[in-house]
Order: sequence, then structure tokens, then C-alpha cells
Amino acid sequence: MGAAEPLIVIENLRVEFAQDGQRAIALRGVDISLYKNEVHGLVGESGSGKTITAMSIVGLLPRQALKLLSGSIRYEGRELLSRSEEELRSYRGSKIAMIFQEPAKYLNPAFTVGEQIRETIREHMGLDRSQANARARELLALVGLGNDGRVLAAYPHELSSGMKQRAMIAIAISCNPDFLIADEPTTSLDVTLQAQILKLLRTLKDMKKMGVLFISHDLSVIKEIADRVSVIYAGKIVESTSVTRLFGHPMHPYTRLLLMSIPDARRKGRRLAAIAGQVLDARADPQGCVFAPRCPMARDLCFKESPTFIAHEQDHMSACHFAEEAWKL
Ligand SMILES: Nc1ncnc2c1ncn2[C@@H]1O[C@H](COP(=O)(O)OP(=O)(O)OP(=O)(O)O)[C@@H](O)[C@H]1O
Ligand SMILES: [Mg+2]
Repeated sequence: MGAAEPLIVIENLRVEFAQDGQRAIALRGVDISLYKNEVHGLVGESGSGKTITAMSIVGLLPRQALKLLSGSIRYEGRELLSRSEEELRSYRGSKIAMIFQEPAKYLNPAFTVGEQIRETIREHMGLDRSQANARARELLALVGLGNDGRVLAAYPHELSSGMKQRAMIAIAISCNPDFLIADEPTTSLDVTLQAQILKLLRTLKDMKKMGVLFISHDLSVIKEIADRVSVIYAGKIVESTSVTRLFGHPMHPYTRLLLMSIPDARRKGRRLAAIAGQVLDARADPQGCVFAPRCPMARDLCFKESPTFIAHEQDHMSACHFAEEAWKL
């Protein structure tokens, strides 16, 4: 961190949908700098724009339904948004890989796990059949699926959900990506499996020195796995800093309220704070702060002017006019 150049820099990304003649804003200002050998958590409620952010990076936004309004996504200094479909395809899988929110959708039921891993490897790495086979076995062993060839020959429906998730991870890392996006990779798993998958991702990150964007709606999962975290609200990044700092000194009122709503043994018996009010309607495009209508700290200025996402302290970015006061909430 610090002096090193980021692997990915996303700046002021804005994306909107056109749906039934209505405009819905999915992203209204996403800024993320992500470094190598670092797990960057992206946390926010359902519908806040986490998956759309991920899909923008890998170039898989549904073209018809979406309009990219503005912004920039640079990978090792090079703009991704202006690339052709073909160039993006070669990035996907080889440099950037993604574990999708719903593995069942992305594992092809008609092919064995082995066939699906081999296909990815052969397309991007130019290995022959037997080399690809050996590599597939190696990868399955690495993600804890054994090396006896049983999973290699299995079809997705023959695997448990934990095994499917591991198989997805094996496919994602098969071409040694520098950057891995994991979109809620543990949400459908029970607590024990969740802990195992988090540990596996962490180990793989350490081994391969990848940059990882880890998406979750759950701050306690983020606390466990991430080094740094960005908080997204209604399509806008409102705060970004190290995990330690975020949990110790949250600056944005939304983060503060999110932290207060985590069940915590130490706060047992105390009523948990729910965040009052509704999430911003996707059709709204307020001139002020996106969180102002729900913010207990909001003043006139907050409804008039959108706060800039800036560093208030070293390595601690926040978009709040009153960031310095917010943590006293
Ligand atoms: N295919 C789609 N058509 C129309 N609107 C969409 C589509 N996909 C996403 N959206 C809208 O874009 C916004 C961001 O959605 P996104 O899927 O990125 O949320 P998310 O943070 O990943 O939520 P979740 O935690 O539920 O996965 C939401 O307002 C959502 O309704
Ligand atoms: Mg999502």
C-alpha cells in the first residue's frame, strides 16, 4: 500500500438503466483504488450497486439495458472502458477473474467440472490436453477438492453447494489472474463452509499475491477477510479506508449506523439501531448527498450540495460535508 501503484483505479463511475422508458441510476459515483496483494471489501445493502460495479470492471454489463454515463476504470494504468469486446475477453480469465454471486448460473450443467476448467485453461494459456488435465487436477487439489479425479469427472449437479463454490474458485484462478473479483462468494453457504471458503480465498491471495475485490452485504464477513474496505450506498462510495480504521473511526454517518446494526455480543441486551427511512429510489437524482434523506446529521447544505469524496485523513476517504463530526453520532 502507499507508494505502490494501484492495480485498478475506478473513478466517478456512473451507470444508468433504461427500463420501460424510465431511467434508473445504478451507479452514481463509484471511486475505488485497489492494490495488489490486498483484499478490498466492497460492502453495501442489497441493490446498492455492488454487482453492477463488478460487472463494469469485467465488461459484462448488459449493453442494451445500460448506459455508461461517465467515469474511468484503469487497469495497470490502461483504460478498460474504451476497449473492444475482444480485448476485454482476453483480459477476463487471464488477468481479471470473477467468482459470480450465483455459481449455479455460471457452471454449465452439461459439462463436467474438468471439462470446464480445461476449456478456460486452454483458451487462455495455450496448453495441450494432457497439460490442461494435469493443471486442472492441481487446481482442484489446491481448492480442497482432492486429487483423485473424482470431482474432475463430476457434473455440477453432483456437487454440494460448498463444492460448487470451490469449483468456481478453481475455474476463476485457473489462469493465474492478478485480480480476482468475488461477488458474495459465501452468502449461500452455512457458517462453517463460509469460514472455510474465506480461509481458502485468503490463502490463495497470499500465495498468488492477487488483488481481490471482495463483495458482501455483511460487515462482519468483511472484517474477517478484507484489508481495506469501501462502503457503497445507493450507487455511491461514501467511505473507504483500512478495515481497522473503519471499525475504529468510521467517518460517514451511514457507516456508523451500519456498524451499530451489526449484532455484537458485547452489546447484548442493547437495542440494535435500525437505519430509519427508505433507500434512495433509483429514479431519483438528488443534487445533494444521497444519504441526506436518512441521515440523522443532515443539515441544509447536505440537501443542496453533493459532498466530494475526499481524503479527510491519510488513507481515509469519505463523502460527507461533516465527516469529522460524524463519528461522534
Ligand atoms: N438487469 C437489471 N435491470 C434493471 N435494473 C437492474 C438490473 N440489475 C441491477 N439493477 C439495478 O441496479 C442497482 C444495483 O444493483 P446491483 O445488482 O449492483 O446491487 P447489489 O448491491 O449487487 O445487490 P445484492 O446485494 O442484492 O446483490 C439496483 O437498483 C438494481 O435494481
Ligand atoms: Mg449483487
